[in-house]
This record gives sequence, structure tokens and C-alpha cells, in this order.
Amino acid sequence: MCYTNIMAQEIFITTADKVKEGEGFDFKYKGRPAILIRHGGGVKAFINICPHSGYETKMYEGKLECVEHFATFDPDTGMALTLPATPGSSLLEIKLKVADNKIYHLNTIVFKSKKL
Ligand code: FES
Repeated sequence: MCYTNIMAQEIFITTADKVKEGEGFDFKYKGRPAILIRHGGGVKAFINICPHSGYETKMYEGKLECVEHFATFDPDTGMALTLPATPGSSLLEIKLKVADNKIYHLNTIVFKSKKL
């Protein structure tokens, strides 16, 4: 008999003090560009690929703004606020864990085994 196992792995990104309010901290998430931001006292992370045409965003005047065509995104939810990003589209959020001044993203691993 084969079992499917799911395990959450914590991957260290950076220390919390390196993420300043209103600035972005770039990192890679599973090989893709990602951005970590501090907004309203909390930290959030998104896969940093604009849903319009795939360029990255930067924090600008309290919002995430695409560097190519300047669509803006809500830093709380990642939802598109302005065109040309399609209304209802969003940056994809990455789940985080903050502990002891360290920020981790949670990586889910699915693997098969014959025994638990
Ligand atoms: S690629 Fe982001 S608005 Fe066009």
C-alpha cells in the first residue's frame, strides 16, 4: 500500500528588521520572483509576477506598482486596484510564519511512501 504524506517545511527568508515599512524585500519562492513587504505593522509576501504581462512590482506610495505598465495592487490582499491589470486579478500571496524576529515562508511538500 502507498501513502501520500504532506509536510510543511519552513524556509528562512530574512530577519523581520530588514523589512521596512513601505519598502519591498525581494527573494525567490520556488525559483520565482517574490516580494516581502511590511504594511500596516504586519508582513506579507507575494509571488512578484504581475498578472497583466508578467513584470515585477515595487512598493511605491503605499501600494505595489508594476514596473512596466504601472498597474497597482493592494498591499494587504494583492488584488489589482488599477488597469491594465484585469479587475479581480491579483498577485498570489505566499503564506508566512514570523517567529523570533525571523520570517519564513511555508513550503508544502507532498511525497509518497510505503510506510508511515
Ligand atoms: S505587466 Fe504589469 S501592468 Fe502590464
